[in-house]
Amino acid sequence: MTAASARALRIAVVPGDGIGGEVIAEAVRVLREAGRRFEISLSFEQGMAGGEAIDARGTPIPDDTVNLCARSDAILLGACGGPKWDTGPRHLRPEQALFTLRRRFGLYANLRPAVVRGPLVGASPLRREVAEGTDVLIVRELTGGLYFGPQSRAGEGDGMTAQDTLPYSAGEVRRVVRAACRIARTRPRRKVTSVDKANVLETSRLWREVAADVGREFPDLTLEHMLVDNCAMQLVRDPRQFDVVVTDNMFGDILSDEAAGVMGTLGLMPSASLGDEPPGLFEPVHGTAPDIAGRGIANPLAAILTGALLLRYSANHEAAASAIEAAVLRALQDGCRTTDMGGSGAALGTTAMTDAVLARLS
Ligand code: NAD
Ligand code: IPM
Ligand code: MN
Repeated sequence: MTAASARALRIAVVPGDGIGGEVIAEAVRVLREAGRRFEISLSFEQGMAGGEAIDARGTPIPDDTVNLCARSDAILLGACGGPKWDTGPRHLRPEQALFTLRRRFGLYANLRPAVVRGPLVGASPLRREVAEGTDVLIVRELTGGLYFGPQSRAGEGDGMTAQDTLPYSAGEVRRVVRAACRIARTRPRRKVTSVDKANVLETSRLWREVAADVGREFPDLTLEHMLVDNCAMQLVRDPRQFDVVVTDNMFGDILSDEAAGVMGTLGLMPSASLGDEPPGLFEPVHGTAPDIAGRGIANPLAAILTGALLLRYSANHEAAASAIEAAVLRALQDGCRTTDMGGSGAALGTTAMTDAVLARLS
């Protein structure tokens, strides 16, 4: 019996703002059902974060939410942010909640998969022969770089200056490239593309040196280096050339949204953020989607697939994770679509799409 099945897997549920709450409620329904079917004992406890926490508690992430996460095995998060809070000072922005959790739990490896196969091919804006068979895993460094370097503002009027800094240590690069290489070993193509801007940035030259060094520890893998501007272009020209892509925090943020674009929508891309120990953080890649929030039409599949990643990485329950992924594929195969996925015929709402997945979970 694994540790996870000996006692309940404690899941901290942090819905956040906008469609965050809408899609996380559906992911929890699917997790509960998978728990019942596979006899995995799961317990859920909810915490507040983001704009709703700023409004209710005056901080993007109250201590009790951080403490709840600290005593949990996994964190399931929706999304934080929205126009209402966009003009506040930096420490009072909803997005701070994400940075606090990522940093506090050392979640340096953020896995963001983009897969285009079977029923998903029609949702891609790319031609079938370009998109079909895409299976890229972006591993984004999540606790360093431009997101966490010192920021400043000085001066007035047109003389005003602002500064962001991009620091990386060799150790930070090494551990995330190693994580990417270990994952690449579990995939059939065994290829890693390390993406940087080594023709311009000193941090990228360090990144490339360290990545090459790590590559020597994995002689069974193919390691290539690619400049980020070229990678952005290659992702839409020929996404199938990629297997695992490892890159820094900022580049990974941008390239992962682009990879979601190859699938046709952010509504299909899940993510797992992992450190050396629990809790892992699991969140869909998309944000709070203020343009569609409150209408019951958000695509729940990214959140549901995020639940599958939670079971895979935090409960080590591959069978339940694969069952959820298979149920999603079956629903798509049967023609179920939310508005963002286009297609002809009537689109399903958030709850109806989840019902379609639940009906096919076995
Ligand atoms: P977004 O990801 O919220 O939305 C981008 C586009 O994709 C929108 O047109 C939206 O309707 C669509 N979309 C996203 N998820 C969808 C889904 N599940 N179903 C259907 N359509 C979906 O990005 P944005 O509009 O740039 O950002 C909105 C807010 O979300 C900002 O405040 C931003 O900071 C925040 N954000 C939070 C997270 C997070 O918490 N992890 C991630 C990204 C953005
Ligand atoms: C993401 C989001 C966040 C990020 C924002 C909301 C701060 O875009 O998780 O991709 O840039 O990391
Ligand atoms: Mn992003």
